[in-house]
Amino acid sequence: MLVAIIAGAVVCGVSLTAGLAVRTRLARSPMAGVPVAGPGPAGMGPPSVEPASVEPASVESASVESASVEPAGVEPADLAAANRWAPLGRVLLRPDAGVAGLAVWLMLLDALLALVAPWPLMLVVDYALGHHPYPHWLAGLAGLPPVQVAAVAAAAGLAVLAMGSVAGYLVTFLVGTLGERMSARLRAGLVAHVLRAAPPDVTKFALGELTSRVGADAARVSDTVTEIVDTLIPDTAVLAGMTVLTALLDWRLTLVVLGVIPLYALTARLRNRALRPAQRRARARSGELAAVAADLLARIPAVHVFGRAEREVRNYHRASTEAAAAAVTALDAGARFTPATDVLPGLGLAAALVAGTIEVASGRLTVGGLLVFLAYLSSLTTPVRSLARLSSAVARGTASRDRIAELARLPVLQLASGAPPPVSPPRAAVPLPRPGRPGPAIRMEGVSYAHRTGHPVLASASLDVPQGALVCVTGPSGSGKSTLLSLLVRLVDPHAGRITLDGRDIRRIPLPALRDLITLVPQDPWLHTGTIAENIGYGRPEATRAQIRAAAERAGVARFAMALPDGLHTEVGEHGRQLSGGQQRRVAVARALLRDTPVLLLDEPTTGLDPATETRLIDDLLASTAGRTVLLVTHQPQLTARADRVVHVDGGKIVPAVLARSA
Ligand SMILES: Nc1ncnc2c1ncn2[C@@H]1O[C@H](COP(=O)(O)OP(=O)(O)OP(=O)(O)O)[C@@H](O)[C@H]1O
Ligand SMILES: [Mg+2]
Repeated sequence: MLVAIIAGAVVCGVSLTAGLAVRTRLARSPMAGVPVAGPGPAGMGPPSVEPASVEPASVESASVESASVEPAGVEPADLAAANRWAPLGRVLLRPDAGVAGLAVWLMLLDALLALVAPWPLMLVVDYALGHHPYPHWLAGLAGLPPVQVAAVAAAAGLAVLAMGSVAGYLVTFLVGTLGERMSARLRAGLVAHVLRAAPPDVTKFALGELTSRVGADAARVSDTVTEIVDTLIPDTAVLAGMTVLTALLDWRLTLVVLGVIPLYALTARLRNRALRPAQRRARARSGELAAVAADLLARIPAVHVFGRAEREVRNYHRASTEAAAAAVTALDAGARFTPATDVLPGLGLAAALVAGTIEVASGRLTVGGLLVFLAYLSSLTTPVRSLARLSSAVARGTASRDRIAELARLPVLQLASGAPPPVSPPRAAVPLPRPGRPGPAIRMEGVSYAHRTGHPVLASASLDVPQGALVCVTGPSGSGKSTLLSLLVRLVDPHAGRITLDGRDIRRIPLPALRDLITLVPQDPWLHTGTIAENIGYGRPEATRAQIRAAAERAGVARFAMALPDGLHTEVGEHGRQLSGGQQRRVAVARALLRDTPVLLLDEPTTGLDPATETRLIDDLLASTAGRTVLLVTHQPQLTARADRVVHVDGGKIVPAVLARSA
């Protein structure tokens, strides 16, 4: 026994030292090894580089640079399918298996130390005071006076307590850090997946909803995983250990106490039945509140101009109180069972007191043994309570897990069914259009598309754009001009028909290659927070300052940037709102010119410009895009007059009209 105690002390010492070493390493760099976008949750790992199985045709002039958000051969199916905690926990914890293993070991050690803690009490009561004969491995203590035995027992108790508290601290730190690392990985994985999913599916979610799912729900899921590990393992170990030890002391008494377990199971069952739907509603209301806030805060000037502040505050207040009310309902659904779970250990204690007295009176149990038994029972409240709390936490986490799984199930924008799987081709310096090489021909054959079922925007529409041609697209507002451009860049895919570049179906061109072939200047310029130069360089991160400056010159950005305090390094604000509408549009044109792709799609690039600026921009644009295939949505006679063709979009059809190029 003595040997076992010494071995135990050595194991404790080694484990705590290892724990402290890992703690120091993690405290220094808590997120070391956590990748920016995966690996881990949902297998959303960094893109693996595979050879392209689909060769671009004349499209071969495309730069087949690998896109970091391109599917990497591993799908988020792990996360989407993880509708149970065990596989999800494995997926989330796998990358930190070493630290998780150490944390679990320290938890078990802590539980073991908690089990050892009451035994010095028995040493004093039964052997020092009660004059029971010492067991042979404690024979050394036999000659000592009771006070000295008590001192030895107290020292042993303190040592156990000290080791337990260090183990407890290490468990708190390691488990907390694991939680943060899981959150970071889960968030990055989710964002990576949202960026890979088909945009129309993603935009069905309100911005606030997305933010709430990627933020609060992801954090809650990883918190739940840590809580399950942190509670289930040590508490189950403590309960199992106590059951074994108390059974060794007196199995009849243990059976009496175990009688309360079915009552616990019943309470947990009743609580979960009420809690799950309440938690789901609470998370949904909270997501809606985030969506209302995001929508409202994004259009503050409109609220002022239309004098809607009071109404908006009322709306927000209603959403906010609904969220709070749902949270209170969920809170109550769990808390209402607390009195029952709190009283049950008392019931066990009361039964043990009566039955224990009978056992001591009959001589089957010593007084010290009964004291240890009662000490175990009163310390039982903590693990039992935290296990009860765990089921509430799991119900809450389940609501968040389902919301995340819904995002993870969004299909990834990929090749059409039947086509080979999407690949990320190797980064290769494949030249962008060689001088003199025309941009590819674009054909649309019988293309149909509807944003809303039953309301087709394009119905069996066809379009033929020769290599290197400039084609102007006209048509009434809402006729589908912007939709046409979205189809060409595969922001949306046709429901019927096909689109080809030099005869190759664009759905069979790897997405990174397609992105390197086509640039879109959208109607809404899509600028981001940062400087003008950063916005221009967005589509070509490796561009030099000189290249950015040249693009800025050609798009007429340099002219207005000169007057700004920091020139091209002036901050443009969120969505570029600190620039005028025309300035934003010119930055978007510069961003596209810098990419210098064989196909350029421009959606009303000159809207909002004064005639002089417009003429200059048109001249520069046409000069910069000579030889490229250009589709230009415009109603400007200056531009249509210089086009090779003008097509008209209306009633779901594209009607071509050949015009002579006058420039
Ligand atoms: N995301 C969307 N969800 C649902 N319907 C949409 C969406 N985007 C566009 N639509 C609808 O599709 C039709 C075509 O829109 P599109 O933006 O292509 O028109 P447009 O010709 O570019 O118009 P404009 O000249 O005003 O820019 C419109 O009726 C519009 O209401
Ligand atoms: Mg449009």
